[in-house]
Amino acid sequence: VGCFGELNRVVCITNDVVDPLVMPGVLSSLTTQGIRVDKIVIPDGESEKTIERWQTLVLQLLDMGVDRATPVIAVGGGVIGDLVGFAAASVMRGVPLVQVPTSLLAMVDSSVGGKTAVNTSHGKNLVGAFYQPRLVYGAMASLDSLDDIHFLSGLGEVIKHAVISDIELFRECTALSERILDRDPKIMGKIVERCCRIKSEVVRVDEYERGHRAVLNLGHTVGHALEQALRETENALPHGVCVALGVLAEVRWAEACGHAEVGTADQIETLMSCFGLPKTPPSVDWELVIDTARFDKKAARGKLQIPVVETIGRVRLDTIEYQDIATLFHSFPGFKTCETL
Ligand SMILES: NC(=O)c1ccc[n+]([C@@H]2O[C@H](COP(=O)([O-])OP(=O)(O)OC[C@H]3O[C@@H](n4cnc5c(N)ncnc54)[C@H](O)[C@@H]3O)[C@@H](O)[C@H]2O)c1
Ligand SMILES: [Zn+2]
Repeated sequence: VGCFGELNRVVCITNDVVDPLVMPGVLSSLTTQGIRVDKIVIPDGESEKTIERWQTLVLQLLDMGVDRATPVIAVGGGVIGDLVGFAAASVMRGVPLVQVPTSLLAMVDSSVGGKTAVNTSHGKNLVGAFYQPRLVYGAMASLDSLDDIHFLSGLGEVIKHAVISDIELFRECTALSERILDRDPKIMGKIVERCCRIKSEVVRVDEYERGHRAVLNLGHTVGHALEQALRETENALPHGVCVALGVLAEVRWAEACGHAEVGTADQIETLMSCFGLPKTPPSVDWELVIDTARFDKKAARGKLQIPVVETIGRVRLDTIEYQDIATLFHSFPGFKTCETL
């Protein structure tokens, strides 16, 4: 509260799953300090991350009479964080934003760094803004109610952060995997803190992704394409699980090209096994996967920028040619190369 000077009013925005689980605690901690809390609850789901929902939210905020000093608090996972962040960035050209991440993925990744966005028919996250939160407050106790698949999804982004820049974190994850899967609060607190530090350090150097920040896209060329191709099929997987598969495939590719130390991918595969993450994707339309990877928004002028892992904890940026994108998927057993791919 201190970082807002005199604070007498906030607006909390959450979804109908998180609302009964987390909002009572948020409400009581604010109201006991004499702060008035208005609340907006939207339906759960990625399908709410739209221009239409953004428009409804900004109009609701204006109807409530918010002014430039009224903090807007996003209480939820990455969907709420991205959507509410974009609403806060645009209402009155920007009101103070507080992120209260409640999913592991939001705690270790999406709540930090200032990327906000909604999806459009042209693709995911294509309309948005860089808008930094004033405060990120991890609702650590709320991890208890998160379902297993979304907890695993968060662990996928933890693996990514460790592979990018923290071999110690990687080793600890491997050694302490059982306690992590038990969601031991002490260990989880440390992991979330380490990941936030890793991400904020990268973002501090390159807030607007003009260069270095792209290392955070490790695993996302492959992972994002898998996620998109599996969406709305019975085999759909959440973002972070696809990212973990992507990290593994991209590191196997780096090893095959001679960029990564031999054995790096095996270490990652071992950690994924410890966490119970799948190491191969389910049955998927590979042609669709490759098309999606080729049309990824990060591709420009016939080349795709890609983080190349050298060893656990060290990564550099490089480019690969458009026509070579399919090679990133070669290590997946189900992947079949054919003329069209
Ligand atoms: N801005 C960024 O830098 C960034 C980075 C990564 C991902 N993202 C975005 O984040 C989104 C994915 O985030 P996510 O995985 O948190 O998905 P999500 O927000 O949909 O949350 C996953 C599910 O868990 C529920 N949930 C959240 N907290 C809970 C809790 N404490 N207890 C019980 N249930 C809870 C949610 O209601 C939802 O059903 C995607 O839209 C992705 O594009 C953004
Ligand atoms: Zn991600």
